[in-house]
Amino acid sequence: MTQFKSPIRKAIFPVAGLGTRFLPATKAMPKEMLTINDRPLIQHVFEEAKEAGIEEFIFVTGRQKEMLEEHFDYQPELEQTLESRGKTDMLKAVRDLEIPAGKLFLTRQPKPLGLGHAIWCASKLIGNEPFAVLLPDVLMRGKTGCLKQMVSVYNETGGNVIALEEVPEDETYKYGIIEPGHDSQNRVEIKGLVEKPKKGTAPSRLSVVGRYILQPEVFDHLSAFERGAGNEIQLTDSMAKLIGKQPFTGMRFDGKSYDCGSRTGFIEANLVYGAHDPEIGEHIKAMVKAMAAQL
Ligand code: UTP
Repeated sequence: MTQFKSPIRKAIFPVAGLGTRFLPATKAMPKEMLTINDRPLIQHVFEEAKEAGIEEFIFVTGRQKEMLEEHFDYQPELEQTLESRGKTDMLKAVRDLEIPAGKLFLTRQPKPLGLGHAIWCASKLIGNEPFAVLLPDVLMRGKTGCLKQMVSVYNETGGNVIALEEVPEDETYKYGIIEPGHDSQNRVEIKGLVEKPKKGTAPSRLSVVGRYILQPEVFDHLSAFERGAGNEIQLTDSMAKLIGKQPFTGMRFDGKSYDCGSRTGFIEANLVYGAHDPEIGEHIKAMVKAMAAQL
């Protein structure tokens, strides 16, 4: 039995998917390197994890994903050039990105068999402690990072904490949907979980939204490699098997999510992140207004 309240030190970033919705852009380039405003998706989620106190970063990678690890590596030529040109802001931005020795771990998912399978691939690196999962193609925009909000809930509740967001009734079939129990303020007891429920059968409109704090017992179920919705090994199916045995708390995220794995979500996120950028924000807002007037 693990301690349901041990600190959250490790995070898994599953990046082994094929990104088929973004073809041909993702034929050779990882989807997680697509840029929102001035940085790739993977950097946005890495920064969110760091803000939440994560110390060890585990990437579950696959074929043609080397660029992701390069992004967090020491780049001596680039640093020397920036230094000699006096570009101190850029130099700082580049240095802030380096993951210190012994803190970045890479494991491989040989075939993209589903999110649950990707997470299982990191089981030996997690060992017997709770951990976070961040899906890089979902950006969570809020005053406080989503994972940080979740860690403060976890520090009170322990167990498993899942970020939630309300979705329209007629779109529930696209998501993992929870069956809610006691619901107060930003917390919802999770009594059940169903991945992509058939239309008209969803137990609520509360959808799982790409951020998880999980106990290591989830690996016991993932290791059965059972296929679920879309014939993929789903993370939610294994989580569902632990409900009732361990605490499961849903946290309504104070902010908004952007599904950057879809083209519309990606474009929306670029406009929103651009509009809040201190350097180009005003220009983007004026541009959007002018465009809206013409459409
Ligand atoms: P998605 O289902 O959104 O990514 O998974 P995908 O399969 O790459 O995208 P499409 O549907 O073909 O366009 C969410 C995250 O989980 C990773 C993906 O890389 C993405 O970051 N993932 C998904 C894996 O690592 N392995 C998998 O088998 C599936």
